[in-house]
Amino acid sequence: MKNISVIGSGTMGNGIAHVFAQSGYNVSLIDINESALEEAIATITKNLDRMVQKEKISEADKEAALKNISTFTSTEEGVKNADLVVEAATENFEIKKKIFEKMDAHSPEDAILSTNTSSISITKIAAATKRPDKVIGMHFMNPVPVMKLIEVIRGYATSDETTSTIMEMSKNLKKVPVEVNDYPGFVANRILMPMINEAIITLHEGVAGVEEIDTVMKLGMAHPMGPLQLADFIGLDVCLSIMNVLYEGFGNPKYAPCPLLVNMVTAGYLGAKTGEGFYKYT
Ligand code: CAA
Repeated sequence: MKNISVIGSGTMGNGIAHVFAQSGYNVSLIDINESALEEAIATITKNLDRMVQKEKISEADKEAALKNISTFTSTEEGVKNADLVVEAATENFEIKKKIFEKMDAHSPEDAILSTNTSSISITKIAAATKRPDKVIGMHFMNPVPVMKLIEVIRGYATSDETTSTIMEMSKNLKKVPVEVNDYPGFVANRILMPMINEAIITLHEGVAGVEEIDTVMKLGMAHPMGPLQLADFIGLDVCLSIMNVLYEGFGNPKYAPCPLLVNMVTAGYLGAKTGEGFYKYT
């Protein structure tokens, strides 16, 4: 594998493009929005600069990584030479379905099509293509250049060959891949989101305040961020949508999203990206 196409240049997409480019792959970064692509390259440059300053990479490594990235506003053009496509577009099934149909039609027949979805069924996405055996989940964690995990999710029809290819290539990115099966929330969010939801219920019931809850989990459990700060970092809309996937997928009331979470999302308090969630961001 040499040519990687990344669809979507937002937080996850630019992080994914960064790690592939830094590991020597040719990256085609695709976004319908030209200014989003410019912003993504600026972010990748800033994150590579930070690594140069910390003497983790040299200036030449940084330049080589940036040279490995080309940008495209056309998906058809951007995927035509791909060995692997990683889709990191908006977390919405209808949008992903259309993108996968396009990827399937325009990428080489033997290319593997992957998605960075945090909770949409891989099996359902794969069914939109004529190559469900070559569709797989590659769930990177934010911030992508820092976090070691790739949750590799096998859909119902994903072949052993596709899975082993992705497990091997994930190691080339200096990440640790973990193979899981396609059930609601996979593993990461099936465990993380109920913890975040429970922290919000704890706040809602007045058991403790925001900072107290986060301090208990940071200092008591050695989590780098408390669950409420992490919810702000992920986006409360994303947390709510994943809770709904768990709730609907398992039909179990234990996954019901906290009414406070629902209210905050309805009111537009989505966390760091809107300037306020459980904390204020200036
Ligand atoms: N890009 C590149 N490097 C970054 C970065 C970014 N966006 N953000 C931070 N870093 C680097 C810093 O340069 C620093 O590097 P060194 O260790 O070499 O100094 C390191 O990461 C730590 O950063 P800081 O010192 O600035 O800050 P910190 O110690 O508070 O760490 C953090 C920041 C890495 C984000 C840490 O708080 C953390 O690990 N938080 C939890 C993150 C997490 O749980 N992510 C998963 C979210 S869930 C998800 O992504 C999936 C989903 O489906 C919802």
